[in-house]
Amino acid sequence: MAVGILLVGGFGTRLKPLTSESPKPMLPVAGLPVTEHQILAAKRAGIHTLVLATSYLSEVFTPYFGDGSKWGMKILYAVEKEPLGTGGAIRNAAQMLDLANLGDEPIVVFNGDVLSRHSIADQIKFHQAHSADATLHLIEVEDARAFGCVPTDQEGRVTAFLEKMESPVTNSINAGCYIFHPSVLDRIPLGEVVSIERQTFPALVESGRPVFGYQEQAYWLDVGTPAALFKGSRDLISDEFHAMEGSTIDPTAQITGKSSLGRNVTVAANASIDDCIIGDNVTIGEGVHLSQCFIFHNAAIPAGLHQSRHYLSTAITEPINL
Ligand code: GTP
Repeated sequence: MAVGILLVGGFGTRLKPLTSESPKPMLPVAGLPVTEHQILAAKRAGIHTLVLATSYLSEVFTPYFGDGSKWGMKILYAVEKEPLGTGGAIRNAAQMLDLANLGDEPIVVFNGDVLSRHSIADQIKFHQAHSADATLHLIEVEDARAFGCVPTDQEGRVTAFLEKMESPVTNSINAGCYIFHPSVLDRIPLGEVVSIERQTFPALVESGRPVFGYQEQAYWLDVGTPAALFKGSRDLISDEFHAMEGSTIDPTAQITGKSSLGRNVTVAANASIDDCIIGDNVTIGEGVHLSQCFIFHNAAIPAGLHQSRHYLSTAITEPINL
């Protein structure tokens, strides 16, 4: 059993314009918000209580996830008026947990923009077996130059947190899922802007505390850019396309390229949709051709529109840099 904190309060600037009207973690991939994929994984790992650490567009989360009973867990909400950074957000959200009665129960922290199939349960076991203060999931990438890297010693103990560099000393990077012993929270000041990656973790390592890296090379994707979000959605779809319940698709319409359609989508005659992400309650008119477009919830696409690589909503039409 464990409790969790999900970091969902960032501005998601790299994903603009997709994040103009939605927080990044609530963008749909394969028909469900990124956050919902993570909640399902958290549930499988035995997490019974989860705090969503919200800030930017915080009001979007509660109507969707409610008290969490639909997912078989308790979901609570912490709201930062101004974003407190990843560490500040964790400290703020932890106040919603019954810390006094947690004992040694581990706290699992998730970056809200990661799709990962690694075993959170095995990461928790590894953390407990090493009596660690903190255990980070590490993943090997082919080219670590775009990331900070995390070297470990032979026992898996983290030796440093290194910033991006031209010749990284290891290809292991921080995969954005951490297990904390509750005592680590005391090291993060309350109500201040703190980065867990740049401040808290390096300080723990420097002061000789046990910080471990848990290596598991499972499917992993950071959906922080438009191209990555589209890839994440396609990766989760095994057929030509995926439609959620309530969709009505005219038999003459063509849907290809692992497009995803949200709930209650209507596609009219002779429309073609290729490699698109379509939200809930969207209507696609007759003869519409869409390629690599992101259609936000509730949009009505007028008959005959031809568009590629665009974000379309009821209010905005803007190109996407894919
Ligand atoms: P970019 O602006 O494109 O870098 O995206 P981001 O704002 O989401 O930042 P980043 O990708 O570094 O954040 C990683 C995760 O932490 C995401 O799930 C964010 O939602 C979350 N996050 C980042 N900063 C904060 C914050 O200040 N408060 C909270 N609650 N979450 C945050």
